Amino acid sequence: MQTPTLRQNIVVLTGAGISAESGLDTFRDKDGLWQKHDAMRLSSIEGFEQEPQAVLDFYNARRKQLLEVEPNAAHKLLAELERWHDVTIITQNIDNLHERAGSTRVIHLHGELTKVTSSRKPNDPHCVKEYPLDVPIRLGDKADDGSQLRPYIVWFGEYVPAMEVAEDYVRQADIFAVIGTSLSVYPAAGLTRYAHGSIPKYVVDPNLAVIPTGFTHIKNTATRGVAQLVEVIKNL
Ligand code: APR
Repeated sequence: MQTPTLRQNIVVLTGAGISAESGLDTFRDKDGLWQKHDAMRLSSIEGFEQEPQAVLDFYNARRKQLLEVEPNAAHKLLAELERWHDVTIITQNIDNLHERAGSTRVIHLHGELTKVTSSRKPNDPHCVKEYPLDVPIRLGDKADDGSQLRPYIVWFGEYVPAMEVAEDYVRQADIFAVIGTSLSVYPAAGLTRYAHGSIPKYVVDPNLAVIPTGFTHIKNTATRGVAQLVEVIKNL
C-alpha cells in the first residue's frame, strides 16, 4: 500500500517568469515590458494622474491580451499539487492564469487585470468589481462612488494591501518556493525573509542573478523547473 503523503503547507511566490511560456512578457528581461515602456509613466499613481488615457490604453491592451493566452504546464502542475498538499499561491502577476489552471488559493499582491475599482478608494472592497476583459476602461467611466473607474492594479508608489496576509502564509509554510521573479520589487521580494530557516526552500528561474540564502536553485524555465520541483517535493 502506498504510504500516504503527509499533507504539507506549500507556499509559492510567483512572478512574471511563470507566465512567460504562456506568451506574456516579463518586465526586466531583455525584451521585457519595462524595456519597451516607461514603468513610471504607465504603472504609477502619478502616471495615472498625469496621463490617464495612456495608462488606460496600456492596461486595456494587457486585459485584451489575457483573453488570447492560456495557463502553461507550470500553472497546471501547481494546481495539481493541491491533490496532495495545501497550496497557497502568492503572485505578483496580475493575470488570472493560476486561477484558470485550477489553483484555489491565489493571493494577488499587485492586483488583477480582471477587476476594476474606484480612483478615489481603490482598496475599498465595495468598489472592486469584476469587469469583462474585452470591454475597454474609458475616461469618463465611473465607479460606484462616482470617481473615474481604474484598473484594480497596485501601481508603483501605492500600498500593497495583501502583504500582511502573504507574510503570515509564508511564516507558516512547511515548504516555500519562488518561481519566475527577479525579486527586485519590494515589499513582495521581502517575503523570502519570512520563511523559517529550517524548511526546504527552492527558487525556479533560468537566469536569476542572486539566489536568496538557504534556497536551492532549480536553474530552469518554469514549465521544466516546476516539474523538477514537484518530483523533489514527492521525495521529501
Ligand atoms: N521561466 C521561469 N522564469 C523565467 C522565465 C521562464 N520561462 N523567463 C524569465 N524568467 C525569470 C527571469 O529570469 C526573471 O528572474 O522571471 C523573472 C522575471 O522578473 P521580472 O521581469 O522582474 O518580473 P517580476 O519579478 O514578476 O516583477 C515584479 O515588478 O514591475 C513590477 O508589478 C510588476 O509584478 C511586477 C513586479
